Amino acid sequence: LNNGLALTPQMGWNSWNFFACNINETLIRETADALVSTGLAQLGYDYLNIDDCWSYVKRGNEGQLLPDPKTFPSGIKALADYVHGKGLKLGIYSDAGIFTCQVRPGSLDHESDDAALFASWGVDYLKYDNCYNLGIKPQKRYPPMRDALNSTGRQIFYSLCEWGEDDPALWAGKVGNSWRTTDDITDTWKSMTDIADKNNKWASYAGPGGWNDPDMLEVGNGGMTFAEYRSHFSIWALMKAPLLVGCDVRNMTSETLEILSNKEVIQVNQDPLGVQGKRISGQGKYGCREVWAGPLSGNRLVVALWNRCSETANITMKLPEVGLDGSAAYSVRDLWKHETLSENVVGTFGAQVDVHDSKMYIFSPAVSVASS
Ligand code: DGJ
Repeated sequence: LNNGLALTPQMGWNSWNFFACNINETLIRETADALVSTGLAQLGYDYLNIDDCWSYVKRGNEGQLLPDPKTFPSGIKALADYVHGKGLKLGIYSDAGIFTCQVRPGSLDHESDDAALFASWGVDYLKYDNCYNLGIKPQKRYPPMRDALNSTGRQIFYSLCEWGEDDPALWAGKVGNSWRTTDDITDTWKSMTDIADKNNKWASYAGPGGWNDPDMLEVGNGGMTFAEYRSHFSIWALMKAPLLVGCDVRNMTSETLEILSNKEVIQVNQDPLGVQGKRISGQGKYGCREVWAGPLSGNRLVVALWNRCSETANITMKLPEVGLDGSAAYSVRDLWKHETLSENVVGTFGAQVDVHDSKMYIFSPAVSVASS
């Protein structure tokens, strides 16, 4: 969507994966504080997004949406002011149907009023869900909110949450800044890998202004191993997915923070070229030894070697398979070890990768030392 936003995938935090409906204004304030104190805000995680359950179950006398008075007694404007004071942006949630999934009022046929209200509160981001949609096609239900947000005059990131209904990559580029390509993620290896595969299919449709959304991060929620979370984060970054943290950032382990704050991996995600990397091989030729890659700005290329086998594996590739010159020398940077390999690479490349883990590298043309 050409609204000046999403030149790179959105980064931030969302309440749903860990808290579901157990949210309140104190949690949101403490999360804002934690995003700053952990350094995550500084790394680019700047949208603080409230998901379902913030609103009261009924609209007010004038038909307006109301924050739940028990959990958000100070109102959303006060929260937005607090969040903005921390240098962050506030996201809110509604639904392109008559109710949200947790049966709060939806915005279908209330698009203009609700968008105007969000803008008056200082909201910067809208996630727009797909429950209770009366069977109307998403192509019909999502554009009115785009137009309503646009008429507010406030720049509001528009995140479509249509669960991949009707292949949004084919039509949502003009509607939203991101669109979900799949059902909800759960905190399991199976869910994460299935979603990666589904999202991969739509790689060519992503770019500055509009991104495929394979759903939010589960890193830190406890259902996967460190290696699996590292793969989750690496592949989401390489796929130019939104990086929306979904754990309790007030109580993260150092391992969780290490993954989420890998600056070099974040830079891959936020690369200005904005090309979604994809699976080059695996399933078939390489079996569960997968190679994912994509171009980056500055004539560089990112490669992830992802071991989806049930034992340690050697994963090797020929450089032309990922689009590199088979006879040129490359300088290779390991993004998890944070070191540049001592030898330049020519022709083939490989590494041993632990079960379900990933290694991630940036290949740059080796600088040839001019002889005098
Ligand atoms: C379905 C969405 O896909 C989830 O991300 C979350 O927003 C829930 N609805 C909330 O009810």
